Amino acid sequence: MSEILVEQHGPAVFVTLNRPEVRNALSRAVNLKLTELAEELGQRDDVRAIVLTGAGDKAFCAGADLKERKGVPAEEAASYINAIAGAINSWGELRKPTICMMNGSAYGGGLEIALACDFRICADDVEMGLTEVRLGIMPGAGGTQRLPRLIGEARAKELILLGRRVSAKRALEIGLVHQIAPRVSLRATVDAMLADLAGCAPLSVTSAKSAIERGYGRALEDGLTIERECYEVTLFSEDRDEGLAAFAEGRPPKYQGR
Ligand code: COA
Repeated sequence: MSEILVEQHGPAVFVTLNRPEVRNALSRAVNLKLTELAEELGQRDDVRAIVLTGAGDKAFCAGADLKERKGVPAEEAASYINAIAGAINSWGELRKPTICMMNGSAYGGGLEIALACDFRICADDVEMGLTEVRLGIMPGAGGTQRLPRLIGEARAKELILLGRRVSAKRALEIGLVHQIAPRVSLRATVDAMLADLAGCAPLSVTSAKSAIERGYGRALEDGLTIERECYEVTLFSEDRDEGLAAFAEGRPPKYQGR
């Protein structure tokens, strides 16, 4: 059985980490495959959204494969970390919208890859944390940078410096996840978000995502310049004409991503 499963459902692709026996830990091979997949899916015109999830019901992802890492000689430790950071960054760099469907708990690199997705929707009984300091290391795949941008410096310090695990409910309260759902309706909650995305023009979504990511944290004036650049991608698109025509005719638009 493959360690990563890829299934297409209409315009959405579901990528499932498939190592439930080790709680979907990120091995070197999985990291390389995740990097390849992000590059491939990012280029495919038939893919409008990507969902990342984990197999089984125990964990979405328990982070780096600690058993594999134990056998990595000291001189290879840096390249090992580069592989996991590279995989997670490649997901963070995807231009298409990404949803992390957290079917179970997420720790270390497991939460870091969730942070690199645009949306996090989790089962209401899971826990999550950047627990690396409890293992004698620290988050090294974007966690110290993405988490404070998301929930603020003070709360990020609380989670990272204390290696705290938080419940789904607390994660929702502090803005770490977008939605929580009972396990039985987790997939339906994700499908509802995919349906929302399917009603939006693909170029508009990718351009708006780019404007937010490139402009966030910049001076307002610079951000507005970036916004204008991104807006221009949609200005002469066929989908812009379709959106206006559909509105005038009182019908749902049929967007082509052009
Ligand atoms: N890397 C490699 N193997 C892992 C793993 C990891 N990150 N996390 C869990 N496993 C393995 C366990 O060693 C165990 O293997 P075994 O059956 O050979 O003993 C198996 O997965 C099941 O783990 P277990 O702890 O029994 O499952 P659980 O469902 O009770 O708990 C977790 C799941 C995720 C809560 C728990 O395994 C855990 O805390 N893992 C470490 C998470 C972490 O700190 N990650 C940070 C990495 S930097």
